[in-house]
Amino acid sequence: VPRVAAPHVVNIADLRVLARRRLPRAVFDYIDGGADGESTLRENSRAFESALFRPRCAVAIPQVALETTVLGTPVSMPILLAPVGSCRMFWPRGDEVAAREAGIAGTIHTLSTLSGCRLEDVRAATSGASWYQLYLVGGRDAARAAIARAKTAGYSALVVTIDTPVAGLRERDIRNGTKELLAGGPAMLRYLPQFFARPRWLVDFLRDGGLMAFPNVVPPGQGPFPYTDVACALEQTAVTWDDFRWIREVWGGPIVVKGVHIADDARRALDEGAAAIVVSNHGARQLDGVAPTLRALPEIVATVNGRAEVLLDGGIRRGADVVKALCLGARAVLVGRAYAYGLGAAGGPGVARAIEILRSDLIRTLKLLGCPSVRDLDGSYIDVPQEWSRRQNNLSNMLA
Ligand SMILES: Cc1cc2nc3c(=O)[nH]c(=O)nc-3n(C[C@H](O)[C@H](O)[C@H](O)COP(=O)(O)O)c2cc1C
Repeated sequence: VPRVAAPHVVNIADLRVLARRRLPRAVFDYIDGGADGESTLRENSRAFESALFRPRCAVAIPQVALETTVLGTPVSMPILLAPVGSCRMFWPRGDEVAAREAGIAGTIHTLSTLSGCRLEDVRAATSGASWYQLYLVGGRDAARAAIARAKTAGYSALVVTIDTPVAGLRERDIRNGTKELLAGGPAMLRYLPQFFARPRWLVDFLRDGGLMAFPNVVPPGQGPFPYTDVACALEQTAVTWDDFRWIREVWGGPIVVKGVHIADDARRALDEGAAAIVVSNHGARQLDGVAPTLRALPEIVATVNGRAEVLLDGGIRRGADVVKALCLGARAVLVGRAYAYGLGAAGGPGVARAIEILRSDLIRTLKLLGCPSVRDLDGSYIDVPQEWSRRQNNLSNMLA
């Protein structure tokens, strides 16, 4: 296992390099890649660079407070772990490993529907709170069963992802033969050398049981859903607003709507009783060419107007990015790749290092800003490019 302490690893980009060294190309690119031309992937991060701080200097801040609450759950800092599918490909029992580290760090772990670990095991692995992310793959009855299990296991919120009516086109996955590798058979042979180029990963992977099914997607009367047809299955059972009624009834707890880009969807989510909204473009893995989430955030915050908590994800690689999102009105953020790189690089210590990097960034950034608490961050600490205020509806106003 590579060393993840400084000076080997100083930032998230360093963990990314280590992940690339340990993982086969198909697995690394699955984490790292975005949809189509990856324009939104680049913009998600670039947006953070375009927002500039306005620090208050010569202020003594011996202690900064990072604590906050999300849906009433106290967290040690405003950073949650996002749902990331197939973590077991990155590290043996990867979801359990990530959940444990989230608990140790005092924050919330979100388990993806597309996990290779049983949701009960992942819940048991953490001392903290857990959220369950729902896709309707395998059909509505399979989803009902998963929701009931998540409730019994003690998950405290259900995250319904609404931006995945079809899998995005990940060009890297096609080139790497990801589909062929999952399907097995002779078609996979020409793509296999990338596995043998990563023997340490291969040994870990095989010891963990090799290719797996999805133990939380169990259509009635069938076994766990196999890895192969996920893309197809996502398309067959896309979630719509009409589904929220039965989802609310079966779940009975707080619902987080993930994948909101525009004010209309934020309003609709509120109508359906969302307790929180995640401004998210799925880490730029779905529709390429949408706005970076930091730019979409102010419109959603204004629309929601305190009626639900607004979270954001996408492109967060530094604590300063988290601070900028909070300045523009997010209550907290989720990180996906930042911890997935850590997991792929070094397992639990890699995830812990990713969290530690973001936490120490946060502390330092608040001190440099002259702000004593994450709860005090607001628009006065940040400048955004003027054109950001004109994001919405220019064209529809023109055409009206
Ligand atoms: C490898 C990978 C797998 C993902 N799987 C899921 C998933 O199963 N369900 C989901 O709602 N979002 C999924 N996402 C999206 C994340 O929850 C989150 O929106 C995104 O990663 C945030 O962007 P970031 O990676 O730049 O932090 C995935 C993201 C990655 C990188």
